[in-house]
Amino acid sequence: MVQASLHTILIAGFAAVASARNCKNLTIPLTISSVNTKFTLKAPSTNIDVTNFVLDLVQAGANYTNEIVADPPSATVTGNYTIGATYCEPDSGPGSTLQVLTHGVAFDRSYWDFPAQNYKYSYINAALSRGYSVFFWDRLGLGLSSRGEAVNEIQATLEESALYALTTSLRKAQIPGITTHFDKIVHLGHSFGSALTYALTKEHPEETVSDGIVLTGFGQAPDYTRYFQLGGNWVEARTATPRLASYPEGYLVVGDTTATHSNFFAPDNFDPDILDAAYASAQPATVGELLTLGPLASGNNSFVGPVLIITGERDIPFCGGNCTVTDPSIPAQSKQSFPNASCFEAVIVPRAGHGLNFEYSAQWTYTSILDFVDKYVHG
Ligand SMILES: *[C@@H]1O[C@H](CO)[C@@H](O)[C@H](O)[C@H]1NC(C)=O
Ligand SMILES: *[C@@H]1O[C@H](CO)[C@@H](O)[C@H](O)[C@H]1NC(C)=O
Ligand SMILES: *[C@@H]1O[C@H](CO)[C@@H](O)[C@H](O)[C@H]1NC(C)=O
Ligand SMILES: *[C@@H]1O[C@H](CO)[C@@H](O)[C@H](O)[C@H]1NC(C)=O
Ligand SMILES: *[C@@H]1O[C@H](CO)[C@@H](O)[C@H](O)[C@H]1NC(C)=O
Ligand SMILES: *[C@@H]1O[C@H](CO)[C@@H](O)[C@H](O)[C@H]1NC(C)=O
Repeated sequence: MVQASLHTILIAGFAAVASARNCKNLTIPLTISSVNTKFTLKAPSTNIDVTNFVLDLVQAGANYTNEIVADPPSATVTGNYTIGATYCEPDSGPGSTLQVLTHGVAFDRSYWDFPAQNYKYSYINAALSRGYSVFFWDRLGLGLSSRGEAVNEIQATLEESALYALTTSLRKAQIPGITTHFDKIVHLGHSFGSALTYALTKEHPEETVSDGIVLTGFGQAPDYTRYFQLGGNWVEARTATPRLASYPEGYLVVGDTTATHSNFFAPDNFDPDILDAAYASAQPATVGELLTLGPLASGNNSFVGPVLIITGERDIPFCGGNCTVTDPSIPAQSKQSFPNASCFEAVIVPRAGHGLNFEYSAQWTYTSILDFVDKYVHG
C-alpha cells in the first residue's frame, strides 16, 4: 500500500518534470574560420592505422603532435557549416539566463539529455526545472552538424570558433527559432567541451561573451590523457558499425563497451543498462581533435566571471583515477589559472568517473552545478 502510493507519487513527479519542457531542434548555418595546425599525418583508414596512431600518440618520452607538424605549421581554415542543436525552455516561458552546453568526446548533444530510462539522467530536465533555458549542440564535425576532413580541418580551434559564433548570435537573438534576448549566458562543458569553453573565455575573457562557466569532467595538471587515449580501444568509425558508415576516414570511435566503461564509468557507480546505452549511442572524434586538445586548455585565463570545475573523484583523463592524488586536488589547482575570476570553486563528485551524467551520482552533480549557477550567475 505504502509502496503503491510512493510509486504513484514518483510517476506524478516524473510526469511534471517531463511535461515542463518546450524544445525545438535547429539547423544553424555558420560561416567561420580559424588558424589550424597543419599536420603531415595521413588520415588513418584501417583499424591497424588507428592503433598505430594511438601507440604513437601515447608513447612515453615522445611528443608525436610536435613530430608531425608540417612546414609551415599552420593554415587558416574557412568554411560554411551547419550546426545541429536543440533549444529548450520551461513551459512557463524562456528563462532570463541561457545555458550553452558543449559535449565531449565519444558522445553528441544527447549527453546532456540522455533519453534512456525515460530521461532519468537528463541534465536538461534538471536545468529546466530550475527555470533556465538551454541550448545544446552537436560539436562541429559530428552528429547532425557538418562533417569535415579529419586531420587538418576538424580541430579544436575551429570548434572554438563555432562556439564563439553561436554565442554571439545567441546574444543578439539572431538564431532563427530563438528570439529571446537573454540577460545572461552561462557556458557549460564536458571534457573536450570544457576545454573548448576554457578556450572561449581565454580568448574572450569579458562578460559580454560569457557570464559564467562550468567545466565538468575537467582538470589541468598533471596530464593523464594517455590513459584515455589508450583506454578508448579506438577503431575506425565508418567500418565499426553501419550507424557510423557515413563518416569519412580519420574518425575514431570507442571499440567496445569495455572502452566506454574504462574511460567514462567508475566502479560500482552505474547501471549496466546505461553503460550499454552510452556505448550504443557513441559518436566518433577526429584524429585532428585528439592532436589539438592539449594546448587549448592550458595557460592562464583572465576570464572575469565565476568559474566552477566539477569532476568525478575517479576521473580517468584528467585525474588518472584519483582527483585527490594532490593537495589541493587536481581540479582545485586550476584556481591559479583564473587569477581574475570573480569566484572559483572546485567540486569533486564522490565515487564518480569521467562520464558524470551517466552515473548514479548524476543528480548530485546537477544540484551542485545548478546551485552554483543560481548563486553566482543567475542572481
Ligand atoms: C530532436 O531530435 C532528437 C534526435 O533526433 C529527437 O529524439 C527529438 O524528439 C527531437 N525533438 C523535437 C522537439 O523535435
Ligand atoms: C609537445 O610539444 C608542444 C609544442 O612544443 C607542447 O605545447 C606540448 O606541451 C608538448 N606535449 C607534451 C606532452 O610534452
Ligand atoms: C560560403 O558561402 C558564401 C555565400 O554563399 C560564399 O560566397 C563563400 O564562397 C562560401 N565560403 C566557402 C569557404 O565555401
Ligand atoms: C599565471 O598567473 C600566475 C599568477 O596567478 C603566475 O604566477 C604565473 O606565472 C602565470 N603563468 C603564466 C604561464 O603566465
Ligand atoms: C587581471 O586584471 C588586471 C587588471 O584588473 C590585469 O592587469 C591583469 O593582467 C589581469 N590578469 C590576467 C592574468 O589577465
Ligand atoms: C588518492 O591519492 C591520495 C594521495 O596519494 C591518497 O591519500 C588517497 O587514498 C587516494 N585515494 C584512493 C581512493 O585511493
